[in-house]
Amino acid sequence: MMTRYAHIVGWGCYLPDRTVTNDELSQIVDTSDEWIYQRTGIRTRHIAAAHETTATLAFEAAARALAVADMHPSQVDLIIVATSTPAYMFPSTACLVQDYLGATKAAAFDLSAACSGFVYALQMAAQSIATGSMRNAIIIGSETMSRVLDWSDRSTCVLFGDGAGAVVLKGSSIPGGVMATTLRSDGSGADLLSLPALYHNPVPVMGAEFSTNGHHKNIIDMDGRQVYRFATNVIASSIQDVLRQAELTADDIALIIPHQANTRIIETAAKKLKMPMEKFYLNVEHNGNTSAASIPLALCDAVREGRLKPDDNVVFVGFGGGLTWGASVVKWGVRPQEAAPSGNEWKRVRYVLARGRSRLRRLQRKVEAIVTGRSDNGKEPER
Ligand code: ACO
Repeated sequence: MMTRYAHIVGWGCYLPDRTVTNDELSQIVDTSDEWIYQRTGIRTRHIAAAHETTATLAFEAAARALAVADMHPSQVDLIIVATSTPAYMFPSTACLVQDYLGATKAAAFDLSAACSGFVYALQMAAQSIATGSMRNAIIIGSETMSRVLDWSDRSTCVLFGDGAGAVVLKGSSIPGGVMATTLRSDGSGADLLSLPALYHNPVPVMGAEFSTNGHHKNIIDMDGRQVYRFATNVIASSIQDVLRQAELTADDIALIIPHQANTRIIETAAKKLKMPMEKFYLNVEHNGNTSAASIPLALCDAVREGRLKPDDNVVFVGFGGGLTWGASVVKWGVRPQEAAPSGNEWKRVRYVLARGRSRLRRLQRKVEAIVTGRSDNGKEPER
């Protein structure tokens, strides 16, 4: 079988309009712009509006990525949404996005690997393309972290933000795209960073055989110092691992796009690797930590700023709850002028049609149920 390579041919991002500054946060918790900026590098973050969900954010990012790729939703075979903040356990966020896009031929599922989710999803999709089972895929990182924060806890609420980023992967026989990936996990650190599932109330206590301690909040719990130590170690080791796998050296890498947790973590990792900070792309200042969305959001900004050119090697490195971590080397292939981000606005009408189609499908199911004489609960009506 011919070798297939998974190339990134489209990218798209969506950030909610509303931004919240550190000064605004200092009005609701005992903190300051100085403390937050010095410890994390964050100045502002975006917060989703009440009508926005992880799925609507993901849809916006995916639609923009498809526009750049100049691809019709019906050409998409696979949609993976990496998220820790789905609105439902099922249906998956990816299924909702499939419906909003009208991607009628796509498989769709969510992937849970916290802040490493984008790198995990990239590898799952790239492998599906490499085996020939899928031709094209959309990978999305989307989060509404603001919904799972305790807004009275200054140690966590200042760190996170909402947003979504997506890439379109396309199979090709031309070498390039996702070249090497390393993925790892260590569940013994599960208690360092956790977000209980919403159906557990009171929530189970990690490491205590699922006993409870009366903790009723479905919010993020984090041991900041331990996470800091973990993150600085695994960023360095996973970059070294993936470079070895790709048979490249640090000098062959044009840009590293790390998960945007905080600036100090990246600075410490850069020192460990003896690499200059200029090689690391950072936009955490404007977005905060958007978990699985942070790498594709940073990618969009890096492309917009002209930080990537054809044949550049770019490394994505993710780390987060689980514990999970991983890195990918991608050979960048698209010239900015080849992408088609503008002039595509009229194509959004297809998403209005997709909503209409979805309503019709629901109506059709209802009509079929009546015609076949079955009641809503599936029982045969009495004769
Ligand atoms: N404003 C003001 N003071 C604060 C705040 C705040 N927002 N938060 C905590 N403090 C106080 C603490 O109460 C403590 O006060 P005390 O000394 O009187 O008890 C003091 O600041 C120091 O607290 P630490 O938690 O020890 O602060 P630290 O220097 O470790 O910084 C931080 C905290 C920024 C969270 C750091 O540990 C860190 O960067 N950890 C990495 C965690 C991270 O980035 N998580 C993101 C999610 S995980 C991921 O994406 C992989």
